[in-house]
Amino acid sequence: MQELIYYQQLDSTNRLAKELAHQGAVAGTVVQAKRQSAGRGQYERSFLSPPGGLYFSLILHPTLSAQEIALVTLAAGLGCRDAIQAQCGLAPQIKWPNDLYCSGKKIAGILSEYCLEMADSGKTPAVVVGVGMNVNSRSTDFPAELQGQLSTLLDCCGKRQDMAALLQACVESIGWRVEQLTNSRSVFLTQWRQADYLFGRKVQHLLRDEQLALGIGQGIDEQGRYLLLDSGQLRRILGGQLRPL
Ligand code: BTN
Repeated sequence: MQELIYYQQLDSTNRLAKELAHQGAVAGTVVQAKRQSAGRGQYERSFLSPPGGLYFSLILHPTLSAQEIALVTLAAGLGCRDAIQAQCGLAPQIKWPNDLYCSGKKIAGILSEYCLEMADSGKTPAVVVGVGMNVNSRSTDFPAELQGQLSTLLDCCGKRQDMAALLQACVESIGWRVEQLTNSRSVFLTQWRQADYLFGRKVQHLLRDEQLALGIGQGIDEQGRYLLLDSGQLRRILGGQLRPL
């Protein structure tokens, strides 16, 4: 980690990290907040961020082509999994592309944002990796309608975590996994496939709540697209949401 910028409360660590990336912040800069008032999730949803969670955004300057940038989200997921495994002995599964699951419930989400506008001023675009993880809270701290879908590290392993150590482990592992994309892509893909939550499950492909396909999860291809076997046809999923049934 190059620099840690910490707030008790912030609207969104991704919003600030993007601003800092535009101002020239170096790779490895981290913005962390104890709580967020306007945390951002995938598909322009809001991300509930009460105290007890780990909320941070990491600025990266990966040496990958624009077509390969989607792999950074997968690397961040695997990096967070490594950190959780090292800190509390749990091995969460990854729901493509960006959610970590323990015992069928979501414990963390990742929102990667590619700062493409930086190219307009001749700079190499940065990627901001935002991680929201339920750590020392309980699922009962969340609104009733969400309690059945999510869990926390405290619920799963019965022990409070040292937040600073967990952050450090996540940042190091994400950096290492992003490097692995360049140095050892095939090992990376094999290890990601071993953590795949959707493999072999019946999965719905949704775009803005409309079902586009229904198939059985087959894992990721070399570009990080998700493969679904739908009525004998292999579909390559680039975006949208995958929901296990
Ligand atoms: C998702 O589950 O849809 C992704 C959630 C990502 C939330 C994190 S919390 C830290 C960072 N700042 C944000 O505003 N969002 C990400």
